[in-house]
Amino acid sequence: MNKLALYCRAGFEKELAAEITEKAAEVGIYGFARVVDNSGYVIFECYQENEADRLAQEIQFKQLIFARQLVVVSDLLQDLATDDRISPIVAQYQQNSRVDFKQSTELWVETADTNEAKSLSTFCRKFTVPLRQQLRKCGWLNYREIYGSGVTLHILFISNDSCYVGYSYNNNHAPHFMGIPRLKFPNDAPSRSTLKLEEAILTFLSEKEEKQRMNSETKAVDLGACPGGWSYQLVKRGMFVYAVDHGKIAPSLMETGRVDHCPEDGFKFQPPKRTKIDWLVCDMVEQPMRITSLMSKWLTNGWCGEMIFNLKLPMKKRYQEVRLCQQKLHEDLSKAGLGFEIQAKHLYHDREEITLHVRIKSLNKQDRGTTWQICA
Ligand SMILES: C[S@@+](CC[C@H](N)C(=O)[O-])C[C@H]1O[C@@H](n2cnc3c(N)ncnc32)[C@H](O)[C@@H]1O
Repeated sequence: MNKLALYCRAGFEKELAAEITEKAAEVGIYGFARVVDNSGYVIFECYQENEADRLAQEIQFKQLIFARQLVVVSDLLQDLATDDRISPIVAQYQQNSRVDFKQSTELWVETADTNEAKSLSTFCRKFTVPLRQQLRKCGWLNYREIYGSGVTLHILFISNDSCYVGYSYNNNHAPHFMGIPRLKFPNDAPSRSTLKLEEAILTFLSEKEEKQRMNSETKAVDLGACPGGWSYQLVKRGMFVYAVDHGKIAPSLMETGRVDHCPEDGFKFQPPKRTKIDWLVCDMVEQPMRITSLMSKWLTNGWCGEMIFNLKLPMKKRYQEVRLCQQKLHEDLSKAGLGFEIQAKHLYHDREEITLHVRIKSLNKQDRGTTWQICA
């Protein structure tokens, strides 16, 4: 097993290939990314033996923007016999001596997230049952995960007679089948966009952090708020929201009494005087660099301590654009002597855009200049 299978939204394979190649090189691992346009995954072949396993542990999954999942896989198993697909799959695992599969917790029989591949999902669901039974007979899949220990077994079916066999580390993967969190659209939310912010919060904050930092004691500004899907998520967590947009906010949201509608330009809006703003969120459709400059202004002026925002990526050179924006943010915050943490992810509910989370870790003068963690 000397390859990585990385899942992504169909159409973003090139971005993911560029990203994994760059991140692997940063830890001294070289390889080749195989890309099939619109396939929903990338295969990264390492040149040296055992390096895929090293990559799966050394690259922080959280640092990858375009990857939904990170799996160490074997060569593609092809021409599987319809009456016995299980034996060659088990044999692949048995050939791998690096990992103790007794420490496996779950089995996910998956496909890529494309309409074509999803036609295999009924087959995958059915196939999971006998395969799981067989793997349990080997003494696998009985392990109980403690704080991210152990591995998850993945089978990625490309067609009903070919698949990649692999595993991911539970402390360095997406904890969701196919790398996709299943979120239910709340019926009373003003827009479907609400799921983007919900997924972002789930991705970037632990449950404990969310409770500590998003509650009735905290206030937020929502730039480009209408009709109110993002504000809805903040209000649901008890926060008070200044919703900035010339448009109309859903009346149901205004009725909560937790929203102040500010019909102003989001690029000119400043936090109300003598009001401490904890969070800034922003979903305005604008050029990524313009949004980045605005976010940088809020952080360096100390107008908020934490933010979640989108960068829309309708252009061709999406990866380069993202890197430029990250660099700018990094430079501006460093120049201002701020300790900070940046995370970026192409979320399942994001289309032609990515979502970023930035947190200022310290505003104290003596702590300035410390960069705690720069993800992505
Ligand atoms: C994608 S929608 C936001 C959807 C919202 N997050 C939700 O969940 O309902 C973008 C919004 O940004 C607003 N917008 C665009 N440019 C703006 C600006 N300069 N100032 C304020 N709002 C702006 C638009 O009016 C639009 O309502």
